[in-house]
Amino acid sequence: MANKQTSAKTAERINAQPRLHQRAREIQAYGTVNHALPLELEEPVRLEMTEQLNQLLADTMSLRDLYKKSHWQVAGPTFYQLHLLFDKHFNEQVELVDAIAERIQLLGGVSLAMAADVAETTQIERPPRGREEVPVQLSRLIDAHQIIIREVRTLARRANQLGDDGTNDLVVSDVLRTNELQMWFLSEHLVNVPLVEAKEPSLSTSVA
Ligand SMILES: [Fe+2]
Repeated sequence: MANKQTSAKTAERINAQPRLHQRAREIQAYGTVNHALPLELEEPVRLEMTEQLNQLLADTMSLRDLYKKSHWQVAGPTFYQLHLLFDKHFNEQVELVDAIAERIQLLGGVSLAMAADVAETTQIERPPRGREEVPVQLSRLIDAHQIIIREVRTLARRANQLGDDGTNDLVVSDVLRTNELQMWFLSEHLVNVPLVEAKEPSLSTSVA
């Protein structure tokens, strides 16, 4: 009788109907790490690293989105080159976001993901919804890079102290190097040099 009831229940569960609108309790809370991972890194180390990596993740996601905003909204004579450059940097930041988030998960933590959570966490100043001129777009992006570069250096030193070589390598080799390079490309656009005519008269002109 018991067997008949069990098989009837199983038959009821197994069918082709999709189970929609399901919700359940979380399987892991944000801000925690799994205990038993064969990584040779103690739980407090992984907890501290995942916390700092989540800050870096939120700021990198904000910078990524600031690049897309700039890509769409840029205006003026340098539209074409900046439109392309901003999207190139956006795509490189997308790669970094994925690498940072997966590092958090690998360490047994929970990575931030949704825009509302990112907005609550990031240290990068929120821009207006409207369009801004090119020098302001560039300045905002450079300021964001500066925040990330500063926090990456602190995080790298701490990871080194705690023996988390993988995190140290990721944030130095990938995050820091990419941000330094992107900031250089942006800042050269803010050097005020003439486009067509040199400001000082040339030596040959003044002699003649
Ligand atoms: Fe596009």
